[in-house]
Parts: sequence; C-alpha cells; structure tokens
Amino acid sequence: MRWTKKIAKVADPASYRSIWRGVKRAVHPQPVARFLRHIDQPALAALGRRHAAAMKPGENWIKYFEAPVWLKLNIRRAQDIGVDRARRPLRVLDLGSGAGYFLFVCKHLGHGGMGLDVPEPEFYGEVFDLFGLRRVVAPVTKHVPLPEALLTGGKFDLVTAFSIAFNEQKTHTPWGPAEWGFLLDDLRDRFLLPGGRIYFDLNPGRDNAFMSPELREYFRRRGAKIDRRSKLLFDPLK
Ligand SMILES: C[S@@+](CC[C@H](N)C(=O)[O-])C[C@H]1O[C@@H](n2cnc3c(N)ncnc32)[C@H](O)[C@@H]1O
Repeated sequence: MRWTKKIAKVADPASYRSIWRGVKRAVHPQPVARFLRHIDQPALAALGRRHAAAMKPGENWIKYFEAPVWLKLNIRRAQDIGVDRARRPLRVLDLGSGAGYFLFVCKHLGHGGMGLDVPEPEFYGEVFDLFGLRRVVAPVTKHVPLPEALLTGGKFDLVTAFSIAFNEQKTHTPWGPAEWGFLLDDLRDRFLLPGGRIYFDLNPGRDNAFMSPELREYFRRRGAKIDRRSKLLFDPLK
C-alpha cells in the first residue's frame, strides 16, 4: 500500500470504528458452532438437494444451504448492531428476510421476531419452518403500507433489512427520498416501539453506488448514522 493511502486510512474515522467493532467481537465471541448445533443439518441438506434438482439455469439457491457461511455473516451482523449484547429480549422485524439466518441468530441469542419476504423462492418458507421462525409473505412496495399481519405478536424494538432488493436499486429508478420516506414513516408510526431502532444494509446499484448524494443527505436528516457507505442506523429515527 502506498504511503498516501496508508495515511488516508489512519486518518479515516471508519478505520477506528472497524477496530472498535473487532474489539467488541473479540470480547463477546459468538462461535458459529453455538448456533449450528440448533440446525437439523440432515434436514437442511435434504431440502438443499431437492431444490438444487429444480434449479433453473442462472439460479444459485444452493448457496443458502451452506449454513456455516450464512451463520458467520449473520452473527457478525448481530454483533455490529449489538443484538448479542442486548440486556433484554428484543422483537426484531427483518424485511426481505430471505432464508432467515439473521432471525435464526437473533432467536438463539434470546430474541423474537418476524420476517417479511415475497413468495418465491419457495424454499425460503421451508427453511423458516425448519428454523422455527415466523414470516409474512408479501412484498414491500413503494408507497404501500406494510401488512398489518406483521403486528401479530406486537410492535418491534428493531427493524432490519440486509442486502435488500425491494428498493429497486438495480433498476433505472431506485427508491429516492419520497419512497424511503414513506417506508420510514410507516415503520415509525405503526411498527416501532418507543426507542426502537432501524438498521439497513443496502446493496450497490447499477452504478456501484449504494445511494445518491441526495438520498444520503435525506437519510442523515432522518437521523441515520452511515457506516462503511452502505450501513444505516436510525437510533432514533427522526
Ligand atoms: C439478496 S437477498 C437478501 C436476503 C437476506 N436479507 C440476506 O441478507 O441474506 C434479497 C431479498 O429480498 C427479497 N425481496 C425482493 N423483493 C422484495 C420485495 N418487494 N419485498 C420483500 N422482499 C423482497 C428477496 O426475496 C430476497 O430474500
């Protein structure tokens, strides 16, 4: 690494936040094995084999059956948000919940929650059942309130969304402040408990950017702390 790059790295507050996250993970380790032992691995492998046989060209669902890889990623997510160090059980709503690994990790850290995702691929629902998790099957749609059914067990302490696609980031018209604002207001007004937090980790768009400068500024005005370009924490949401 050139010395100019080294100096920039030392001067970047993100480097210190990254070191601090590493320290917290080292002080509160969460080995994958602790979570893996709660998974019926033969049943998960059988599900994987069945869905692999039905895979269309270009699909790669089989990766979701590699439990240790997904557990590791989601344990790290939980640690970054501090879910592993919460002093009481939390209720977590995960939007675009996929195969449910984040909620599974939350569950085995003592928390409860609910997922939300579209009906396809079907195996997401089957993995949810295997993991003993609950979800509502419905799309997140711009300018449409989220389904009431999410509130079956009550409101939430934490709303998360990781690597989501519902914001149409890959299209010519990714969500802007108006669409995000509608979702944030809906979450605040109907789903968040007092003191509740929101954490989003966005995917990059067609231009490899995670958000436009306008959207970044909008999120900041709504109270977001933005970390590593893509990660937004609203604590609290304004
Ligand atoms: C890249 S995957 C991420 C899954 C999961 N959050 C994770 O990080 O492992 C994107 C997820 O968004 C879901 N998704 C796509 N469009 C959606 C929509 N309109 N509403 C809700 N979920 C959607 C997909 O089905 C998929 O589960």
